[in-house]
Amino acid sequence: MRRSLHLLLLLATAACAGAPNPSAQPAGSAGYELPPLPEPAPIGAAEYAARRSALLDQVGDGVLVVFGGPLPAFDYLPFNQNPDFRYLTGIMEPAAGYVAVKRGGRVVETLYVQDRDPAREVWEGGRLGQSGAQQRTGLAARSSQELYTTLDSLARVHAVFHTPVLPSLDASPGANLAHAQQVLTRLREKHPSLEVKSVQGDIRRLRGAKSDAELDRIRRAVYISALAHREAMRSAHAGMNEFEIRALIEYIFRRNGAEGPAYGSIVGSGPNSTTLHYQTSDRFMDNGEMLLIDAAASYAGYAADVTRSFPVDGTFTADQRAIYEIVLAAQKAAESQIRPGATWNALNEAANEELRNGLTRLGLIDGPAAEYDCGTSRCPQYRMFYMHGLGHGVGLAVHDPDISQTPSGFGPGSAVTIEPGIYIRADAFDHLSDTPGNRAMIERLRPALERYRDIGVRIEDVFVYDSRGIERASAAAPREIADIEALMSETGLDAASRSADMVEWFRQNPGR
Ligand code: GLY
Ligand code: MN
Ligand code: MN
Repeated sequence: MRRSLHLLLLLATAACAGAPNPSAQPAGSAGYELPPLPEPAPIGAAEYAARRSALLDQVGDGVLVVFGGPLPAFDYLPFNQNPDFRYLTGIMEPAAGYVAVKRGGRVVETLYVQDRDPAREVWEGGRLGQSGAQQRTGLAARSSQELYTTLDSLARVHAVFHTPVLPSLDASPGANLAHAQQVLTRLREKHPSLEVKSVQGDIRRLRGAKSDAELDRIRRAVYISALAHREAMRSAHAGMNEFEIRALIEYIFRRNGAEGPAYGSIVGSGPNSTTLHYQTSDRFMDNGEMLLIDAAASYAGYAADVTRSFPVDGTFTADQRAIYEIVLAAQKAAESQIRPGATWNALNEAANEELRNGLTRLGLIDGPAAEYDCGTSRCPQYRMFYMHGLGHGVGLAVHDPDISQTPSGFGPGSAVTIEPGIYIRADAFDHLSDTPGNRAMIERLRPALERYRDIGVRIEDVFVYDSRGIERASAAAPREIADIEALMSETGLDAASRSADMVEWFRQNPGR
């Protein structure tokens, strides 16, 4: 789907930019032919070395330490590598660490990895060991058993440690300190004069400017996610459970080469469509309800993030359509602002204007600039129904840094979501401060709330910006109402293919 069209032309044709030939119907791609997505270039030792060197250029003398992710807390849980560590080393094993000692312009780098252990490897799979890690990265490697004692001795002779994660003084029961924070906190207790400086900003700046090899991975993650949304649209129907759709989506991810979901898949029907990060996924859905799906794949380590919202029965009611059209207009207004040097401010203003005007038209707020009493201050009324940010970068993490968040603004190397939403929660007015102004507002707006309640709509696409221009990479998942309704009229997953008895028992026994 690489194309050399100019930025504006690409934006103008965004609706069909990702639309491959729908006539070919290979199995597993939901009736869509896979477009010629560029093959991602390998990310090898030289690119990792260049990333480390760019980071080291930013730090002064001292010790740079970056911890990998710890062993999973329980057996059999999947291991997730710390994205900063992965970005700098490419090493995917747990309990690893990277240490660079910088003095007078000279740098000595060492990687710490788990020892080989044939008995454990029988259960857990192979490990690189020190020689494997050295071969893979070109870095000197030592045992991760030595990591803490090495840091302890380095702290005796170096005044400054640079690290992306700062020690934490938060000892509250729910603090859930990361492994790295615990180690640094312990080191600081032992060496009170040790200064720990954050390199988080430096790493974020580097990670925020994606190479073509990274953008090509993101494109594939996004495309696979769009295929899964297509299949969900074809398959959803009344009587299905949210978890059936969730399972179907995650199956499509893996079937197309993704590692799995990039984050907990959100599949919310009816009232659940208004819960922003709904995770339970165990409600039976019905005709007349909205279904909001925020689910996307991770491919070769890179995350997508895609949301579609549609009626369970495949035809928008007038009220669902009214809300949907406002959100779609807000998304299009925001994306029309993307150009070299544009800022999120410009995108936000464009989207907010559509949301405020639309909610006013439906009588859900008193006016575009209307406010309500929130605590000791006043808040915009439209925020009662749009509670989150407009978008964010995607990359090694689903919420990744992006160059568009820096003063230089949008430019090549960027991959972001744009995801406005409107959520008409039945309890939207229940927790407001009890003031005369709020009471009067609630009385005025209550009829509209009752009319539109339980409609949740978010539309989230990923935009990839490289040297050729900007592309709505998730365009294969329809977002126009007519296109959604057309796709939903196709036959998807066959309801008869599941065990109706077992599903029915689950439905009849909500306490279980
Ligand atoms: N899926 C999380 C988000 O949209 O940011
Ligand atoms: Mn998102
Ligand atoms: Mn999302």
